[in-house]
Amino acid sequence: MPLPDGFLDELTARNDIVDVVSDYVQLNKRSGSNLFGLCPFHSEKTPSFSVSQDKQIYHCFGCGKGGGVVNFIMEIENLGFMDAVQFLARRAGMEMPEDDTPKELRNRRARMLELNRDAARFFYETLKTPKGREAVDYIKRRGISPEMAKRFGLGCAPNEWNALTDAMTKKGYTQYELVDAGLCKRGRTGGVYDVFRNRLMFPVIDVRGSVIGFSGRILDDGEPKYLNSPDTPVFSKSHNLFALNLAKKSKMGMLILAEGNIDVVSLHQAGFDCAVASLGTSLTPEQARLMSRYTERVVIAYDNDGAGQKAAQRAIGIFENTGIQCRVLRMSGAKDPDEYIKKMGAEAFSLLLERSENHIEYRLLAVKAKYDLLTDDGRIGYLREATEVLASIGNSIERDVYSEKVADIASVSKEAVLNEVKRAISRRYKEQKKREEKKNLRPEQTVQPADKSKRYANPTSGVAEEGVIRVLVRDPELIKTVALTEESFTSPYWAKVFALIKRRNGDNESVTESAIANLLEDDADLFTKIMREPFDISAAPKVLQDCINKMERAQIKVSEDVDLLKYLENKRKNL
Ligand code: CTP
Ligand code: MN
Repeated sequence: MPLPDGFLDELTARNDIVDVVSDYVQLNKRSGSNLFGLCPFHSEKTPSFSVSQDKQIYHCFGCGKGGGVVNFIMEIENLGFMDAVQFLARRAGMEMPEDDTPKELRNRRARMLELNRDAARFFYETLKTPKGREAVDYIKRRGISPEMAKRFGLGCAPNEWNALTDAMTKKGYTQYELVDAGLCKRGRTGGVYDVFRNRLMFPVIDVRGSVIGFSGRILDDGEPKYLNSPDTPVFSKSHNLFALNLAKKSKMGMLILAEGNIDVVSLHQAGFDCAVASLGTSLTPEQARLMSRYTERVVIAYDNDGAGQKAAQRAIGIFENTGIQCRVLRMSGAKDPDEYIKKMGAEAFSLLLERSENHIEYRLLAVKAKYDLLTDDGRIGYLREATEVLASIGNSIERDVYSEKVADIASVSKEAVLNEVKRAISRRYKEQKKREEKKNLRPEQTVQPADKSKRYANPTSGVAEEGVIRVLVRDPELIKTVALTEESFTSPYWAKVFALIKRRNGDNESVTESAIANLLEDDADLFTKIMREPFDISAAPKVLQDCINKMERAQIKVSEDVDLLKYLENKRKNL
């Protein structure tokens, strides 16, 4: 059965590889962004099995096995591709396109969604009763209009132990179901009690419109300020975003990522209907990938305090890995978007959005803050570091614009800055080239893939083909700038991978390590292995051209050799 477009992406977005692998392997010992553990596929005493959360792939330096989350399940559960997909779909509570999930599980999920909807209705209706007075007052005090309260389905969890329990039991839900859905907890005496009490309730609604969980904000100043549903078969905090169900319909062409639910409501009320927030965790790669399904532009509008700014820095890194262009909004004179809009108005916020610095500018500002530009030493230090930031920009027009800004700040000529940047780029390029060449210097048997069936007929071309694939996965748009076809590859394996990249890029589907690995089904080891090598994106177009040249030279050389052989042979025959 062919899977519909995007299904595999959603499946992998909802099954974080670290979570999945952790069910089988104890992962720890962080090195960089990688986690290590003992390989489940061969026996070993020191961990050589690594998992990359950013790339969503695993690779064993010992036995060479590697791939994405689907490959992992195929291997460890000994399942075929479709069975592994189904296994993961079930794990993430997704319905299979052609639903052959066991009936009990389907029913459990369906009942839970129904219960959540009924609970949301109960909280909403409570607002109209005396028990909801405090929440109504709170909504008013925070300046939330009745229209917005309705749009978000805000509600009230009364300050009682059994309000929801009683109402839902009356509707026929069992105590077990209430606990299962994370709405109730079991008390010591065996009964159950409401988890959410004395809170303003925000239903969390997924992009399909199902109520999957709740956030509750305390109505007085008790702790914790926010309480969120625990993870359940229909809800995962790290894979969902508050208000994405509304924001996905926005025409603003971007998403705004805020910290608090109140900020989100306030933003929507002021006309910024593309605001979302994460659910009490810092931004996760899955959430970034989820956002990337709806937009290429994100503006981070976190709180103005140290914690918020730190979280913004982290988020930038995550968005960069997802290929999202992200900007950071800087507010002055208010602690968060809600307060800013109340103090300065929507118009002012709109200006902020326009002026919001993109991440390059943000990084340049951070560099600037480190130096005293009134001294020569300070200016030199600033220039040196700013040059590195500039060199990392892939787009030459952007690079030019920012070079001018840096030149202004350091009071030197733009030409001087551009020269330095050029030097930095060529240095990065040389480093990258050295890394590539190191591979060519290896004796032939180490160049060759371990798997004999994949041995390169033309090793020099084969290694260059690896390079092409590495570049194209990191920057698939480059595929349009070169005249490569499957026939350009001497290795059938790389030809197959190339075809996958080309198809997905053409269909506007994401090209990532994990997407390609998963599509390679039981054949992802070699791909995963070559993707582990470091790669500097700023040199991508040049490295790509280098690799293609190398392929061509290697292939001509071989055909010349063949021609020469034929010639000699003919000559011998004719003698
Ligand atoms: N938070 C949470 N669960 C949510 C939303 C936010 O745990 N569903 C956490 C965030 O991680 C952050 C804090 O609560 O640490 C957000 O607080 P804040 O921005 O102050 O929330 P607001 O709703 O804006 O509250 P207020 O402006 O009333 O202080
Ligand atoms: Mn806030």
